Parts: sequence; structure tokens; C-alpha cells
Amino acid sequence: MKYSRPRGTQDILPPDIHIWRYVEGVFEATFERYGYEPIRTPIFESTDVFLRSVGENTDIVSKEMYTFADRGGRSITLRPENTAAVIRAYLENGLHRKGGTTRLSYIGPMFRYDRPQAGRYRQFHQVGSEVIGSLNPIFDVETIDVVMTALEALGFDDLVVKLNSVGCAECRKPYTELLRTELERLRDRLCEDCDERAMKNPMRVFDCKRCVDVKGDLPPISEHLCEGCAKHFAQVKSYLEAIDRHFEMDPRLVRGLDYYTRTTFEIIHSGLGAQNALCGGGRYDDLVAQCGGPPTPAVGFSAGIERIISVLPEESTAVATSGSGVDFYLICLDEESSARALQAARVLRAFGRIEIDASMRSLKKQLRNAERRGAAVTLIVENELPDRIKWKDMTKREQFEVDDDRLLEFAEAKLAGKRVGDE
Ligand code: HAM
Repeated sequence: MKYSRPRGTQDILPPDIHIWRYVEGVFEATFERYGYEPIRTPIFESTDVFLRSVGENTDIVSKEMYTFADRGGRSITLRPENTAAVIRAYLENGLHRKGGTTRLSYIGPMFRYDRPQAGRYRQFHQVGSEVIGSLNPIFDVETIDVVMTALEALGFDDLVVKLNSVGCAECRKPYTELLRTELERLRDRLCEDCDERAMKNPMRVFDCKRCVDVKGDLPPISEHLCEGCAKHFAQVKSYLEAIDRHFEMDPRLVRGLDYYTRTTFEIIHSGLGAQNALCGGGRYDDLVAQCGGPPTPAVGFSAGIERIISVLPEESTAVATSGSGVDFYLICLDEESSARALQAARVLRAFGRIEIDASMRSLKKQLRNAERRGAAVTLIVENELPDRIKWKDMTKREQFEVDDDRLLEFAEAKLAGKRVGDE
């Protein structure tokens, strides 16, 4: 083999592609029921879009971005996440001028140069939503509810919602000072990176995979919230309870992106091992203003499709792949019958999915393939029957011979006139 795919990427082939489309379809249908509209933004953006929003001290920006200069010398980055890009599009296209809340959803590839392992890829896919324009905790809860509803529709029943509040700029100022003092005290237990983080952006220490032991000894932000943030968080929790959405408090859940304010959450699946988050999200009330827009609060989530599929319940996989075959399998036994095969296929396509087998292999082998493809009817064209087609009903085990020019009529009678798109 001369070429191979880049490390950390995947080819999605049939039949797996049917699982992907099924998962995406369930999310799309769920978004629709909650009044979300899809948005598509470019796969690459100016690097600036992500620098300050995601945060210069985060792992994503400092270690994982695919950044390069294009031929015009501009710094371009393959999007490592979509929230900052959606906000860029929201402002650039003047959606903020409409007022009220804007609900947007998206599905697409993201890129992070991370060490590939199970559940962690360099190109991966996220499905997500953003509600822009309201401080109301109702939307924090709706965000958790919309993703949980979609995941439940996919058959998951053992997920845990981890919840926290990281406060706002106001409560974070005194908290950051407190955290710095504590980190100074615990300095000899910090890794090299965290030693630096402690000065630059101390809350990032909570992301560190090496300083796990230290985290438990640090004061959690959720115990140092200002009055407004504490009230908001209490409302989020009470609304979640009101709709029977269970959650677990995780006072040290700060998430790996800088833009969060107040609510943060993750949805955890126990089957995932180290990369156990199916989904992450939260509120980011300062991002729109930081990007040059008017002060506009927002909240959203993103879920990793590869991770969802890796632990997808069996019944969903079965449903997703069940419709992946064909309705008709048309066997062409010799070259002379090729034109007739094309004509017959054209007639039958009005009634369903049809695959022509022009391999010229033995009839036995082709029939076996028809069965494998789940065809309800197999048709055979051959020179020995120059103007008639064999129609084999694979379930009833019946066989007919039909005149070429009466195929449409015969199909209509046999299939009760049911064409593609009929109810
Ligand atoms: P995130 O936590 O960085 O949040 O990513 C969300 C989800 O994407 C993760 O829970 C995981 O399932 C998946 N994911 C992340 N990195 C990888 C990877 N390298 N390979 C496979 N899957 C991965 C965000 O991206 C925020 N934009 C979420 C958000 C939306 N916050 C507000 N709105």
C-alpha cells in the first residue's frame, strides 16, 4: 500500500455509515422538536477566532490546534471546536440584531492534534447546540435535556450528568486569588505545567491529568460563588429536578475551555474508560462580547459522535443497519443482456432500491449475494430468454417469467402499486 490515512483519522465505511447516519438523524429530529435550526460554518477559521475564546493557556490552543499559514500568509486553524465559530457567524451575519434567543445546532468534523487512543482522534465529529441571547437558567436545563433526550432515543439508559458552576468574572477574581495562595502552598506537588498554570490561569490546574491528587485539596469554585451565580445555579438544579433529570454534583468540573461562566456539565458513560465524556457543555455569558458583539449570554453542548457510536446500545445498531440492503437484486447473466438489465432497473427503481449484479459470476453465487443484500425480489436477465425476465420472490419462493415490456405492469400488480415515497 502506497498511502494510508493520517494518524488519528478514520474512514467510515458501509455498513458503519448507516450507524452514523442513524445517530445524526436522531439528533436532528430531536433538535427539530426543541425548535433548533441547523447552522453550517467553515471547517477552518482565522486562528484568532479560537485563540482568546477557547483560551491561550488551554491544552486545545497551546498544544492541539492544526494551525498553518495559507498561501496568502494568513494564519488559519482547522476548527478544534465549534462554539467560537458559531458565535463568529452569529455576529458576522447580524443574527444578534433580531433580538430574543437564537437556537442553533450543528454536526461536523473537528480537529485536535492530540495523542490518538480509544475515544480520542485527531479528526472527530461533534453534534451540538447553542442557545444565544438569554441568561435564563431554563436554557441551561433545556441544553442538558435536549442532549439527554437524543441519547435516550438512541437507547442509552445508564448515563450520568455531572454538574458544576464555575461562577462569573466577579466571583472568579477573589476565588482565583484564593486558588493561587493554595497552589503556592502545594507547589511541590504540582507538575511543571501546573506550576506555570498556577500563575497564568490557575483554574486550568483542574484539567491536569497528572495532578489528580492535588485537585481534591483545592477549594472548589462552586463554594465561592457570588450571590447572582449561586441563585442561578440553585435554579438550574431545581429545574432539572422538576423535569426528573438526575445529576451528580462535581465541584471540580471546570472543563478544558476558558469561555465558560456559571453552569458547566459533562455526560459520562461508564463503558468509555479514560475518555469517558460523551458530551460536554455549559454557559458562556461573556464570549459574544469578547468577540466584539453586544453583551449576550449563551449556553450550549457538544457530544462526540465517535464516542457515542463506540458504546451505542445493541438495539440501535441493529435498527441502524437493518435497512441497509436493497429491495431488488438484478442478475445479468451475459454481456448481450446488459442493455435489458439497465432498462429493467430503470423501471423498477420507481418501486425501491435496486442493485445490478454485472459480475457475470455463476447464478448460484449471484443468488447468494442477493440474499446477503436482503433483496425481496431477484430478477434475472439472460440471453436464453431474450424478451422475458425471471422474477424470483425471495420470501415466498415463487418464480414468474415476465415480458420485458410488461415489467412495469407486473411490478405494479405484484407490489400493489406501491412506489417509492408512497405512504
Ligand atoms: P469538549 O468537551 O472539548 O467541548 O468536547 C465535547 C465532546 O467532544 C467531548 O465530550 C468528546 O465526546 C468529544 N471529543 C472531544 N475531543 C475529542 C477527540 N479528540 N476525539 C474524539 N472525541 C472528542 C467542546 O468542544 C465545547 N465546544 C462544548 C460546548 C458547546 N460548550 C458550549 N457549547
